[in-house]
Amino acid sequence: MSEHDMEEVALLLVAPSKGILAADESTGTIKKRLESINVDCTEETRRDYREMLFTADGLSDYISGVILYDETLRQSAKDGRRLADVLKDQGIIPGIKVDMGAKPLAFSEGELVTEGLDGLRDRLAEYYELGARFAKWRSVITIGDAAPSQYCIDTNAHALARYAALCQEANIVPIVEPEILMDGSHSIDECYAVTETTLKSVFDELYKQRVVLEQMLLKPNMVISGSDCPEQAGTDEIAAKTVYCFEQTVPVAVPGVVFLSGGQSEAQATENLNTMNQLDNQPWEISYSFGRALQATALKTWGGRPENVAAAQSALLTRAKLTSAARNGKYSSDMEAAG
Ligand code: 13P
Repeated sequence: MSEHDMEEVALLLVAPSKGILAADESTGTIKKRLESINVDCTEETRRDYREMLFTADGLSDYISGVILYDETLRQSAKDGRRLADVLKDQGIIPGIKVDMGAKPLAFSEGELVTEGLDGLRDRLAEYYELGARFAKWRSVITIGDAAPSQYCIDTNAHALARYAALCQEANIVPIVEPEILMDGSHSIDECYAVTETTLKSVFDELYKQRVVLEQMLLKPNMVISGSDCPEQAGTDEIAAKTVYCFEQTVPVAVPGVVFLSGGQSEAQATENLNTMNQLDNQPWEISYSFGRALQATALKTWGGRPENVAAAQSALLTRAKLTSAARNGKYSSDMEAAG
């Protein structure tokens, strides 16, 4: 594959009307999701759930790529096809989460650093063979009394850039995800300040480590009030502050910004994405890489029962259609009821 192909993959992932489905929950996280619908978490139930999502007919109208977890990339559907091939057969690009999770950061109580660089070059080569054409690494930044420290921000930014450079060496498009958590009572302006500082550090490291900006995507949080903040900013303020923050920090060579939903409800995340896409022309595609905000209703509708597969797939398609409308700035909350 040539460099050109990585640019093409990055652009395909943020093609008009399309965005990414994040279905890369680690075994611990998917266990919580399955327990929320009273389903035991086994290799088989994890496979059945993901197979339900990936075989939804027409998913590729709205979804360009799906991020998988290591186990899922190796699993097969009931008809024997590998799940990665089920996606490819639908015209959807398989991606892979490659970080090994956020662990306590030494000498900085309560802060986290994402691990997974050791052996990453070899893992990426294998993931390419298994069909992955893009990857994800998530760093986690928490806002608290004295947090985040610049040390935490810079250490995570350094690791993100090391990951991104290794991906590009392996012809895999890196999705760079520095997530500022919405947990906490902080204001939207505190979220703005931390997001700006973090993105500056991330792009500084990406530059130092020679990452090609045209061949990556940024997966950021929205600039939003902390979930326990008594004053919750509305969608116009969220959209204006988020886009302004990117104007200060994200080079125009980056083809796209694909948001995480981060614990916002499906409707909230969709509305905010829509408002951003209604603002005047931006240099990047502004799209989605939602996990919970695409899956929540589909998961509940499925409930682990084979007889609910069709209804759950229909719920996923409805949600994806609304999110796609928002990615084009064409969503309105009336569409929620209409489906
Ligand atoms: P959420 O949209 O549920 O935040 O998940 C996106 C994701 O991939 C987080 O790493």
